[in-house]
Amino acid sequence: MKRIVILVSGRGSNMQAIVSRCRSEGWPADVAAVLADRGSAAGLAWAAEQGIATAAVEFKAYGRREDFDAALAEAIDAHAPDLVVLAGFMRILGAEFVRRYEGRMLNIHPSLLPAFPGLHTHRRALEAGCKAVGATVHLVTPELDHGPIVMQSVVPVRAGDDEAALAARVLATEHMIYPLSVRWFVEGELEVEGGLVRHRRGASQLLA
Ligand code: GAR
Repeated sequence: MKRIVILVSGRGSNMQAIVSRCRSEGWPADVAAVLADRGSAAGLAWAAEQGIATAAVEFKAYGRREDFDAALAEAIDAHAPDLVVLAGFMRILGAEFVRRYEGRMLNIHPSLLPAFPGLHTHRRALEAGCKAVGATVHLVTPELDHGPIVMQSVVPVRAGDDEAALAARVLATEHMIYPLSVRWFVEGELEVEGGLVRHRRGASQLLA
């Protein structure tokens, strides 16, 4: 069984989707722990109710980011994960931390990367007049919201859409592409070559 550790900062709806699908579809994996950078993260309470180990590594308790990163790595490594899943984890992680989990850390970002890394993706897409938006699951590299793309979803921008409407339409697709990407990872279906991710048996890496 592969061991998964999931990091959240807030409500954790992507984490919930992954936990639920892992259990209902019988993946060869367990979610060993859910960790957060704040004890108040709603996702922690949900995970604890499911009987999953939880812990908070309070960002505020550390003066320097390097110290926070080291404490977080210690909390993660206590669960000996094969895969670390960032699910709405809203802290920038240092290069040393990222290298420690190179090739075994996934992130989801609510834009069609490489467009709109960083915050306020839906607002920026509306301002740019985008006709389609989406989400990206990618392997994490030291550059923010960057790295080999595992899967993307695309949805239309409709007349009258505001930021909230777009966020909701994209989030619904996140709940599909993130569990599927994690499943592929733990089932050994993904291969990375030259910075590109391929599904070994050619499954579509696009939800449109
Ligand atoms: C999701 O939309 C995710 O793509 C985004 O935060 C939200 C978390 O929601 N992540 C980022 O912006 C990372 N750069 P959730 O806590 O309900 O999963």
